[in-house]
Amino acid sequence: MNLPYAESYKIKVVENLHRSSREEREQWIRQAKYNLFNLKSEQVFIDLLTDSGTGAMSDRQWSEMMTGDESYAGATSYYKMKSAIKNIFGFPYFLPTHQGRAAENVLFSVMVNNGDVVPGNAHFDTTKGHIEYRKASAVDCTIDEAYDTQIEHPFKGNLDLHKLEETLKAYPARRIPFIVVTLTCNSSGGQPVSMENLRGVHALARKYGVRVLFDSARFAENAYFIKIREEGYQDVSIRDIVAEMYQHADLMTMSSKKDAIVNMGGFIGFRDEDLFRQASVYNIMFEGFITYGGMSGRDMNALAQGLYEGTRFEYLDTRVRQVGYLGQRLEELGVPVQKPFGGHAIFVDANQFLPNLPREQFRAQTLAVELYLEAGVRAVEIGTLLADRDPETRENRYPELELLRLTIPRRVYTNNHMNLVAVALKNVYDRRDQITRGLKIVREAPIMRHFTVELERH
Ligand code: F0G
Repeated sequence: MNLPYAESYKIKVVENLHRSSREEREQWIRQAKYNLFNLKSEQVFIDLLTDSGTGAMSDRQWSEMMTGDESYAGATSYYKMKSAIKNIFGFPYFLPTHQGRAAENVLFSVMVNNGDVVPGNAHFDTTKGHIEYRKASAVDCTIDEAYDTQIEHPFKGNLDLHKLEETLKAYPARRIPFIVVTLTCNSSGGQPVSMENLRGVHALARKYGVRVLFDSARFAENAYFIKIREEGYQDVSIRDIVAEMYQHADLMTMSSKKDAIVNMGGFIGFRDEDLFRQASVYNIMFEGFITYGGMSGRDMNALAQGLYEGTRFEYLDTRVRQVGYLGQRLEELGVPVQKPFGGHAIFVDANQFLPNLPREQFRAQTLAVELYLEAGVRAVEIGTLLADRDPETRENRYPELELLRLTIPRRVYTNNHMNLVAVALKNVYDRRDQITRGLKIVREAPIMRHFTVELERH
């Protein structure tokens, strides 16, 4: 008999979870104004809101925390992080920041100006927010296949090189500060970008004299998919794949809360010394001195260790398999989910789940509320609320995909938790015809509204 697969780590510390009754959850979600970000964590049984900063650090990372150097300038922890970034990505210069969006804020303060255009693959919301805040615009060049949840394509994060070239042709190079490639592409479903595509983007960027920026939050999961899906990479190590990927980038922003498996942290990686110097000014203004930039020494130590652990094949294999396990269970139960399964999350297709609910009533958010009521599972809307309003017309933007993201924290839950989530969603699916009332907005922020929006039942 073949041995079944088992996780590549064991559990050393546990945290107790709180179960609740449906009546309690009814009351709590009403008090939270139907926005799951407003729930207290103890009102949640299984928390799949995000995989960002919610992972379990290893014993090695915790031991690194104890030896952090808290010197204001020139801490050994800074040099540990610098060496990990050089070893793994090959970037000679970096700036630490407190998280990914802070890296965007610092870098875009130097590079993005009023009227600029930033092509990319379904920019993440903070990335788009930081572009639009500077009165520049994000142009989505993702391949069309990404917008059909049922098409099986191994690299749905890919950029359409034709769309990209059309955009590069349409504007002078000085209006295009960089092309953003998001690895894996969160907004299109945790979908990877192939090495071939990275090569193609880089070649076009060189042809038109434009830089390439990798939004790197889930770079290691992207490398894992290249290893298992792209011809010629089966026998290449994750570390070598990552090194090759980053030969096609001039810059990187990193939210270390994902693939570096830390609770807080980020950085910007540079090849260009001059840009690094310019960005250092903003880093000092917004984040902190250039050798800590919003992070404590112990956090930089844990981050450096996390980058090495996060690029181990055994770890990534366990990680991505667990996400796939949840996807398979849901598929067996008939729940419409995005295919192929992403690296950090399973995305439920709310347009297929609740087709009769008007889009103006926020299908994916309605589904998030129903799943919470069913079993205390907190997921997150990746749909109309997240898409914000059009900055010009102020109308709701209805994205092609209306998704409910079940985001799996790293090394935190077991497959029994995944089973519970799958059955909870199946129960909601079975009563979907009775879900006839969606939600309406009572209050919203002008940008990135989904975090704080207040809603009521329609
Ligand atoms: N880029 C990507 C692709 C992301 O997924 C995120 C965060 C960021 C940048 C910003 O990083 O949160 O450290 O400031 N994504 C989280 C999520 C919030 O839930 O997907 P941050």
